[in-house]
Amino acid sequence: MADFESSVALVTGAGSGIGKAVATKLAQAGAHVVVTDINDNAVATADALRQAGHSASSSLLDVRDEEQIQALVALIARDYGKLDIAVNNAGIDPEVAPEASWEEAILDQVLAINLKGVFLCMKHEIAQMLKQGGGRIVNTASSAGLRGFANKPAYTASKHGVVGLTRAAAVQYAGRGVRINAVCPGAVDTAMLEKNLGDEKGREMVAANHPIQRVATADEIADAIIWLCGDTASYVTGHALAVDGGLTV
Ligand code: NAI
Repeated sequence: MADFESSVALVTGAGSGIGKAVATKLAQAGAHVVVTDINDNAVATADALRQAGHSASSSLLDVRDEEQIQALVALIARDYGKLDIAVNNAGIDPEVAPEASWEEAILDQVLAINLKGVFLCMKHEIAQMLKQGGGRIVNTASSAGLRGFANKPAYTASKHGVVGLTRAAAVQYAGRGVRINAVCPGAVDTAMLEKNLGDEKGREMVAANHPIQRVATADEIADAIIWLCGDTASYVTGHALAVDGGLTV
């Protein structure tokens, strides 16, 4: 397992699903993890990590709120002296009937969290990382950042945007010690997927769409994120890593 001893990490949307799995693996590998989410699940995740003997704190963070993000990054710098790793993972995929999928309000809602949220977090994380001489960022995009999905124009656009932001920032800061990558999961067994699946038949159809014939676990996506955060990915930047059981091949 990668060694993150004495590293400080920030994870957004870490109260459940992929973010929770990432926070857990980082903490197990020795990092101090600042577990954030828009709701109290962040507190529960951090409590569980501390009870298991790991180092974690929690903070309520709405990734749409730049003041909150700026204040949290400043607090982390004050309390721990640095921010080594940031995983910008918070996101939504609202259930939308096909006929409503082109509503402007849906686009605004999805872009505000999935795209602008990542933009705002990166802006302040990178500023801190430049001050300290480097860092690593991983953004959770999606297979919807690599191909189109019918009835999901907003989600697809937001995740293509995350891949674009990742690439732009990666080339801008590669020479200054900040590595920035994205993961692009296929379907992952989390609350988000459960909400969108409908019934058992829906689950089987989604699994069958993936050449590997099943959906991923949150841990499988977290393992890829952890790799990108670690020293064994030291020459990888600006990459959008498909972790999708062959969905986009
Ligand atoms: P999840 O629903 O378990 O986790 C998403 C987390 O984001 C939740 O804890 C939620 O409270 C948080 N969140 C929502 N709005 C927020 C806001 N404004 N500020 C801060 N936090 C907020 O779902 P999952 O699957 O773990 O999703 C994590 C990421 O993975 C998302 O970006 C999602 O788009 C992406 N993803 C998920 C896939 C799946 O099939 N589950 C597939 C591909 C990508």
